[in-house]
Amino acid sequence: MDWCRRYFFTRRATPQVGAVDMPEARAVNEDVKMFRYSYAEVARHNTADSAWMIVDGRVIDVTSYVGSHPGGDAILNYAGTDATIAIRTQTSHHFSMPFIEKKLKDLTIGTVLP
Ligand code: HEM
Repeated sequence: MDWCRRYFFTRRATPQVGAVDMPEARAVNEDVKMFRYSYAEVARHNTADSAWMIVDGRVIDVTSYVGSHPGGDAILNYAGTDATIAIRTQTSHHFSMPFIEKKLKDLTIGTVLP
């Protein structure tokens, strides 16, 4: 998935380290993709009301997608966690990988802090 990281990091400006989930900052800067989040912050978003997950070091907000996920609520089992392996090894996903990769890109809100 090196191409993924390369794409992500070259496409965006310098990430705003320290601007960790500040709603007031989002209001000012609509480019929420600039943010970097701690693992602890991602872990808090573990419900259907706010479901985030980590995929290849990126933070993905899948909240808007949960209702249309063809695999139903199984996606929520990974809300708030690193779903990289689960997504890649889910057999049903293998047929829709291009769609899934695009979805993941569109729903990316930032990267996870080391
Ligand atoms: C951004 C897009 C998607 C994400 C983030 C996502 C995420 C997930 C996750 C985390 C799981 C649980 C995997 C596990 O239990 O190991 C899952 C299961 C599943 N997904 Fe997706 N998925 C996406 C798109 C899709 C699409 C397009 C399909 C349709 C082909 C699909 C069909 C399924 C099915 C059938 C399951 C298994 C449900 C079950 O075990 O009951 N998903 N998905």
